[in-house]
Amino acid sequence: MRKIIIDTDPGQDDAVAILLALASPDALDVLAITCVAGNVPLDLTTRNARMICELAGKVDVPIHAGCDRPLARMLVTAEHVHGKTGLDGITLPDPKMPLADGHAVDAIISLAKANPGVTLCPLGPLTNVATALNQAPEIADNIVEIVLMGGAYFEVGNITPAAEFNIYVDPEAAEVVFKSGIKLTVLPLDVTHKALTTRPRVEQFRALGSVGQAVASWTDFFERFDKQKYGSEGAPLHDPCVIAYLLRPELFSGRYINVEIEVQSPLTRGMTVADWWGVTGRAPNATFIGDVDADGFFNLLTERISRLPVS
Ligand code: BDR
Ligand code: CA
Repeated sequence: MRKIIIDTDPGQDDAVAILLALASPDALDVLAITCVAGNVPLDLTTRNARMICELAGKVDVPIHAGCDRPLARMLVTAEHVHGKTGLDGITLPDPKMPLADGHAVDAIISLAKANPGVTLCPLGPLTNVATALNQAPEIADNIVEIVLMGGAYFEVGNITPAAEFNIYVDPEAAEVVFKSGIKLTVLPLDVTHKALTTRPRVEQFRALGSVGQAVASWTDFFERFDKQKYGSEGAPLHDPCVIAYLLRPELFSGRYINVEIEVQSPLTRGMTVADWWGVTGRAPNATFIGDVDADGFFNLLTERISRLPVS
């Protein structure tokens, strides 16, 4: 049983990641969901996280509101991808469950102190996680691993030619995390662009009942952007790759390499400079995942979503 904290900015793909984690209580103990501004502003990411937990029938998970802007920059959002609510595609009931007391950063710090061996799962900009590490560096000893969605190498950028959205939004926060010395596993666009929905995969979700229908509606909405931009067959399920990696690491492969974050250049802000070929001699600091067994990933996701909602 792995104890995890999901730090997130939902987002349709964040939503599917959260559902995958909540559907896996045999393997994952979700201590808290901590929300950050990213795909949409914080008031919407906190609202969306509560709607997702209610959809899953898991209203006992503490959901904390966190940072409403990056460490040193103006917030950049992604309504052009996720719609104005961040969860466009299906209208869910207004959430009833309250937010948990306390700021997300304080929750990360206190939960990490109380749970040696905890894993952090960031699915959005790294503002909350970096702020927690800046405020309480000693928690690094208790964090066994950070498994995050962010960055790109061969695929390069989705928000700029050089940068992936999560890292671009708060590069200074990403730099703190990548320099933290904590075991780091990174699911970049190189792998998430291989976890693509197809019609048969979406129809399998839709056949699963209310939660599956929501997942299908979200991916129907979300895929229009990637189809138009990349000419890809469907939507990349970026953030669920993080949770799938925790559940079935053998579906993924990558390399332990050095990854540095560009924080200076306006042209390449937020670029993950990944030394895939080992040309710099810089010490490795991250396992950069490059490949996934996409059929295995979708089989896992379909089987787990079929378990929801829990009553
Ligand atoms: C990442 O950015 C967001 O739009 C998604 O939720 C994902 O976390 C992909 O670049
Ligand atoms: Ca996200």
